[in-house]
Amino acid sequence: MDKKLRLQTLTGMRDILPQEQVYFKKVQKSVESITNYYDFKRIDTPILESAEVFSKGTGATTDIVQKEMYSFRTKGGDLVALRPEFTPGIARSYIENGMYNMPQPVKLWTLGPCFRYERPQAGRYRQLLQFDIEAIGDRSASIDGQIIQMSYDILKDLSFKNLNIEVNSIGDQECRSHFKKILTNYFKSRKSSLCSDCQRRLKENPLRILDCKEEKCQRIRSGAPQIIDHLCEACHAHFKQVLEFLDELELPYVLNPYLVRGLDYYTKTVFEIVEKSETGAIQGALVGGGRYDGLLKVLGGRDTPACGAAGGIDRIMNLMKLREVKPDKKDEKPMIFLAQLGQLAKRKSLKLFEEFRASKIPVAESFSKDSLRSQLNSANKMGVKWVLIFGQKEALENFITLRNMETGVQEEIKLDKVVEEMKAKVKS
Ligand code: HAM
Repeated sequence: MDKKLRLQTLTGMRDILPQEQVYFKKVQKSVESITNYYDFKRIDTPILESAEVFSKGTGATTDIVQKEMYSFRTKGGDLVALRPEFTPGIARSYIENGMYNMPQPVKLWTLGPCFRYERPQAGRYRQLLQFDIEAIGDRSASIDGQIIQMSYDILKDLSFKNLNIEVNSIGDQECRSHFKKILTNYFKSRKSSLCSDCQRRLKENPLRILDCKEEKCQRIRSGAPQIIDHLCEACHAHFKQVLEFLDELELPYVLNPYLVRGLDYYTKTVFEIVEKSETGAIQGALVGGGRYDGLLKVLGGRDTPACGAAGGIDRIMNLMKLREVKPDKKDEKPMIFLAQLGQLAKRKSLKLFEEFRASKIPVAESFSKDSLRSQLNSANKMGVKWVLIFGQKEALENFITLRNMETGVQEEIKLDKVVEEMKAKVKS
C-alpha cells in the first residue's frame, strides 16, 4: 500500500482487537460484581468537560493539567478538555445533581476512556481505560479501608498474586502547609542538584519532589524529613485507624513515606497497588487512590469528605495477557457448531440459531459457506466438541444429525428437541 495512504492509530493510542475483548470483559465483570457487592452505583459522566473542572479539581500545577491535558476551544469559544481522570467530573456531578441530599456516603463507580498526553512508554497510553470507585460524604477511616479492600479484591479476582499495597498519609491543608515549609527548607539548599522539573516543583509543590523518578532527586530525598512525623493529631489518628483496618483485613501493605500522588486534591490517606515480580514493578501502579476531603468545596460544593481509587485497565490487561490468565469459561469459544447444506436447511438453520441464542447457548456457524467440508474444517479449527449437521434430508424430515467431534459418533435428534438436548449436553 502507498505509505502516504496508510493510516495508523495515533501515538499512545491502540485498538482493543476482537481477541483481546475477553480480557476487557473479564475486568469489567470483576469491577461490576465487586462494586455491586459493596453497593456502589454506576454513574457515567461526559468524556468532555469544561477544562476548569480539571484545572480546579486535579490541580493547575499538576503534570496532568500542565502538560498532559487535551484541551481546546470550541467553536463557541468555551475552553473544554477530554477528561484526564474521572474524580473531578464525578465530584462535579455530585454537586450539580444535589447528591448531598441523598443518604451519605454516595457510593459511585464508573469505567471508560480517559486521555493524557503522556510521553509514550511501557504501560503509558494517551487514551487509557480506567475503572473508578468513589465514596463521597463520609470522613470515617473505615471508608478508606473499604476502598483499598475493593481495589485489592478486584485485582485478586483477576488472578493477580504478588500484590503490594503502598500507603501513606499526606495530612490535611493545615499540617501539610506546615510540612511544605520544612520540606522547602530542606530542598532549597540542595536546589542546584535537583532535576529541572523538581526545581519548578520546589516553588509550586515541594511534596511532588518526593515521588520524582529521577535518580539524583531520589538520592537527595533519602535524607528529607518525612510527613508522617509532622501530621497533626487528627490526621495522625485517622491514619492510625486506616492502618488498623488494613491489619484487620489482613491486607499486604507497606508504608511508603515518599508516596504523595501526582494530583492536587489528596488529603490524608494515599495509596497505590503494584504487582511485584523478581525484577520489581513491571509497569507502575495498577490502582491508585486516596482521600480528597477538600475537592468538593474547591469545585463549588459544600465541605464534603470523600475517598476513591482508579485502576488502569490497559496495564491490568497487559499483565493478564503476559500471565496467560484464562478468560472466563463462558467467554470461551462455543462448544457447538451448526453446519448446513442446501437452501431449505440454511433457512431453517437461521431460525434454529436464533432459538439457541434465546436459550443462551453459544453456537458457532458459517452460514456464508455452502460446502459441508469447508464448514467441518472451520468447526475443526475452532475445536468445538459437537457439530450439528443440517442437510437436505434432515431439513425435509425435521431432524438433525449430531456428530461428536472427539469420538466421531453420530446420532439423530428431532428438530424440536435439539435445543433442549444440547443444553443438557453443554451443562454436563
Ligand atoms: P492515577 O494514579 O492518575 O489516579 O491513575 C489511576 C491508575 O490509572 C494508575 O494507577 C494507572 O494504573 C492508570 N493510568 C494512569 N495513567 C495512565 C496511562 N497514561 N496509561 C495507562 N494507565 C494509566 C487517578 O486517576 C485518580 N482519579 C484516582 C482516584 C480516584 N483518586 C481518588 N479517586
